[in-house]
Amino acid sequence: IIATQPSVRVVTLRIDGHDLSAREDETIIEVCRENKIPIPSLCWMDGLSVVGACRLCMVEVAGQNRLLAACATRVAEGMEVTTTSEKLQRYRRTLVELLFAERNHICSVCVSNGHCELQWLATTCGVDHVRMPYRNHGYAVDSTHEMFRVDHNRCVLCTRCVRVCDEIEGAHTWDIMGRGSDCQVITDLARPWGASDTCTSCGKCVQVCPTGALVKQGTSVGEMVKDQHFLPILARRRSAR
Ligand code: FES
Repeated sequence: IIATQPSVRVVTLRIDGHDLSAREDETIIEVCRENKIPIPSLCWMDGLSVVGACRLCMVEVAGQNRLLAACATRVAEGMEVTTTSEKLQRYRRTLVELLFAERNHICSVCVSNGHCELQWLATTCGVDHVRMPYRNHGYAVDSTHEMFRVDHNRCVLCTRCVRVCDEIEGAHTWDIMGRGSDCQVITDLARPWGASDTCTSCGKCVQVCPTGALVKQGTSVGEMVKDQHFLPILARRRSAR
């Protein structure tokens, strides 16, 4: 028996004035990435499930009276999308500032300095200072794992680590605990990472972490470069769907 893939319709849409074609099962962010149209994102990662948590990818869609998350919105025939406007810039800038204010993101003493997606977002969104008061949770750093460590003070709760561990590695070591700004990523129901029975030490969580929250032990300021060698596997996973 030869299994045939159900045919997927191709739709035409307009993004920032460009007429584009896309499969109807694609999201706006996927089409933008394919066509080199930049949209800021933090929680989205090609090949992982979509959570729509960071809201940085919000775009304007004609006929909608609210902003839509590009990572969680499928394209449609005749859709008109705007990815850059003064309103969106203001919105994204505020979101990035809130992320900086919520935890400790002092780049000059971070192992990911110069290789951090949050730092890059701050640059592209024009964030050179933070207008809100800083909340310093003063979370403990878990260095119990022999190869890696987690600094919750630098976590942006994108949950990429949770999803890559669950969906790609199949270990389900990571999870989320708590509510609101008191949320934390945890390993094995809040046991220290080094005491985890499920962690395979594959390091995928470290590689997908956009900031200096998950890093290799022994790295110094600016040394933590995420090589993300398995990302093509994630991308192939999407194209096979
Ligand atoms: Fe879309 Fe985070 S990238 S909500």
